[in-house]
Amino acid sequence: MTATVLFVTGTGTEVGKTAVTAAVAALAPSVAVLKPGQTGVTATEPGDAEEVARLAGPHVTIRELARYPEPLAPDTAARRSGLPTLRPQQVADAVAELASVHRLVLVEGAGGLLVRYDADGHTLADQALATAALGLRVQVLLVASAGLGTLNTTALTAEALRTRGLDTLGVVIGSWPADPDLATRCNLTDLPRAAGAPLLGALPHGAPHSPDFPTLAKSFLAPPLGGTWDAAAFTAAHPA
Ligand SMILES: Nc1ncnc2c1ncn2[C@@H]1O[C@H](COP(=O)(O)OP(=O)(O)OP(=O)(O)O)[C@@H](O)[C@H]1O
Ligand SMILES: [Mg+2]
Repeated sequence: MTATVLFVTGTGTEVGKTAVTAAVAALAPSVAVLKPGQTGVTATEPGDAEEVARLAGPHVTIRELARYPEPLAPDTAARRSGLPTLRPQQVADAVAELASVHRLVLVEGAGGLLVRYDADGHTLADQALATAALGLRVQVLLVASAGLGTLNTTALTAEALRTRGLDTLGVVIGSWPADPDLATRCNLTDLPRAAGAPLLGALPHGAPHSPDFPTLAKSFLAPPLGGTWDAAAFTAAHPA
C-alpha cells in the first residue's frame, strides 16, 4: 500500500489544525492521525487525537507519542516537566508504521511550524524531512486563520517550508466567519498567493459543534482532500 503522509501545520496555535485534520480524516476511508507531541492536557484528559476521533468517527486510528501537561511548546513543556523530548526519527518511525497499514497518515503539529520539540531545536519540519527520508510521500497542509494578519504568517510559513524542500499541498482556512469582513473576503484571493499553493477549503465557524461533522467536511473541503468544495465559486460568492 502506498500511503500519503500529510503533515498538518498552521499559521499559529488555535487556528483550527485539529478541526481541519478531523475534517480530512472524516472523508478518508483508510486513515491514521498522529499527534506527536500533545501539550496542555493531563494524562486523563482528551487530547487533539481524541478530538479528531470524536469528530471524524471511529474508523480513524489515532496515536500520540508524548504528552506534557503544561500548555507550552513541546520542548519547553518537556524541560519543565522532566519528561523526555521527541526526536524527529521517533516521529518518522511511528508514521512509517501507520503508513504500512493506512492509505493516509495525518500528522498534526503543535502550534506553528517552527515550534521546537527538543533542545536541539528540531521542529515539525524536521519530522517531515525524517519521514520523507524513509521513502514515504510527504506533503504539508497549511491551516490558516481567516482574517487580517494571516497573509504574513502564511507567507512566512510557506517560505520556511520551501527553504526546507517541503511541498505544500494546499491551504485550508480553519474557521470561516459567518459575516466575513473586507480583509477576510480579500484573503480568499490572496491566501493561495501568499502560500504558493491552492486554497483547499474553509471550515465554517462552529464546525466542531456540527451534529453531522463528516457531511459538513465534505461540503467545505476541496476534491484533493476528498470533498466537493469549489474555491472559485466560494470566492465569487464572497466578493470584496
Ligand atoms: N471552524 C471552527 N469554528 C469554530 N470554532 C472552531 C473552528 N475550528 C476550530 N474551532 C475551535 O477553536 C479552538 C481551536 O481549534 P483547534 O483545536 O482545531 O486549533 P489547533 O490549531 O488545533 O490548536 P492547537 O495549536 O492547540 O493544536 C477549539 O476550541 C475549536 O473547537
Ligand atoms: Mg490542535
